[in-house]
Amino acid sequence: MAPSKLIAVLPGDGIGPEVIAQATRVLELYRDRRGLPLDLWPLDLGADRYLRDGTTYPEAVRARVAGEASAVLLGALGDPRVPGLEHARDILFGMRFGLDLYANVRPVRALSDRLVPLRDRGARDVDMVVFRENTEGIYVGMGGQFKRGTRDEVAINEDVNTRKGVERLVRAGFEYARAHGKKRVHMADKSNAMRHAHELWYRVFFEVAKEYPGIDARHVYVDAMCLFMIQDPSQFEVVVTCNLFGDIVTDLGAALQGGLGMAASANVHPAVPRCCDERHEGPRVAMFEPVHGSAPPLAGKDVANPLASFLTVGMLLSHLGWPEEERRLEGIVARAIAEKKCTRDVGGELGTRAVGDWVLGELAHAF
Ligand code: NAD
Ligand code: IPM
Ligand code: MN
Repeated sequence: MAPSKLIAVLPGDGIGPEVIAQATRVLELYRDRRGLPLDLWPLDLGADRYLRDGTTYPEAVRARVAGEASAVLLGALGDPRVPGLEHARDILFGMRFGLDLYANVRPVRALSDRLVPLRDRGARDVDMVVFRENTEGIYVGMGGQFKRGTRDEVAINEDVNTRKGVERLVRAGFEYARAHGKKRVHMADKSNAMRHAHELWYRVFFEVAKEYPGIDARHVYVDAMCLFMIQDPSQFEVVVTCNLFGDIVTDLGAALQGGLGMAASANVHPAVPRCCDERHEGPRVAMFEPVHGSAPPLAGKDVANPLASFLTVGMLLSHLGWPEEERRLEGIVARAIAEKKCTRDVGGELGTRAVGDWVLGELAHAF
C-alpha cells in the first residue's frame, strides 16, 4: 500500500470548526470508502486554546507539519475575544511564511449563472485564477509605531518586495497559464503611485513574459482592475499580484462567485524554472483554506456555507495527486447549487450539516 499522507486539520475559530467538520467527513469518506491513504491529524489550535493556555503555534506542531505532513486543511482564524489576533497571525503567517508557501492560488470561478450578481453576465464570464504573492509585501510586519497615543504619533508598515519573491510568483502564474491552456496573464499593481516597489513588479513581469511568447501579458492598475472585474470579468484568466491586492481582489472575486461561502484557496510553493534555489526534494507541504474568515456573527448557528471548504478539499486532493477528485467535488458542489441543496447565502434553505449530508450522499454514490 502507498505510504499514507498526513493531513493536519486545523478547524480554528468561529465558523471554521463547522465547515471543517463537514470537510473532514469528505476526507474520511475518501479514506474509508475510496481507500485513499490519508491520515488525519486534528490540531486543537485557535482562539479557545490561546485563551486557555496562551498557546498559538507551538514548536512541536510546527516541526511535525514541516517534516511529516503532506498538507494542512485550515478553517479560519479570528475571534473578537482576541482583538490583537496574535494567535491568528502566529498560525496563518507561521504556515505561509514558515513553509515558504509563496503562492496563494485563489480560483475565482462561478459554478452557476444564478450566483453571478452582475446584470447580463453568467458563470461563463467568471473564470479566473488569482496568484497572490503570499510571503512578502506589507504582511511581513516590518515597521513600528513611534510616540504612540500622542498627537504626534507615527505608524509605519513597510512594503517589502524582493526580486526573488516577485519573479517566482510571476513565473508561477505564467507556468499555470501555459499548463492550463490560458491565453492571457494580467499583473495588477499600483506602479503609478508605488514607484519603487511596483516598478519592480512591472519590470519583472514583462521580462518574464518574454519567455512565454504565446501568452498575452497585460498590465492593469489594481484600482482599474476592480472596475473591470465588475464591468467585464471575462477578460481575466490568470492574475498575478502582490499580497495585499491579492487579498482584496479575491474578496471582490468571491462576490462574483456567489459570496465568500464559495471561494477556495491553496497556499503552495510551486517549483518554477530558473527561479533561485529550488533544491527541495519531493513535494512540499501545502496549506489549504477557504478564502472566508471566521464570520463570528454566523458561528454556532449551523448557517455557514460549507461549499468553499469542499472545493478547498478538492484543491488539496488535486495537489496530492488526485486531480480527478477536485473535478468530482466541483461537479457535486455545482449540483448542490443547481438543486438548491445549499445554505441561505446561496439561495437554499439547508443548514451547514444538512449540506454536508447531501454532499456526502452524492459522493458515496460516485464510487
Ligand atoms: P469573513 O470572511 O469572516 O466574513 C465576511 C462576510 O462573509 C460576512 O458577511 C460573513 O457572514 C460572510 N461569510 C463568510 N464566510 C461565509 C460562509 N462560509 N457562509 C456564509 N457566509 C459567509 O470576514 P470578516 O468578517 O472580515 O472577518 C472575521 C474574522 O475572520 C476576522 O478576525 C478576520 O481577521 C478573520 N479572517 C480570517 C481568515 C483566515 O483565517 N484565513 C480569512 C479572512 C478573515
Ligand atoms: C485571508 C485573510 C488574512 C489575510 C487575514 C486574516 C490576515 O484576510 O486569508 O484572506 O489578509 O491574508
Ligand atoms: Mn482575506
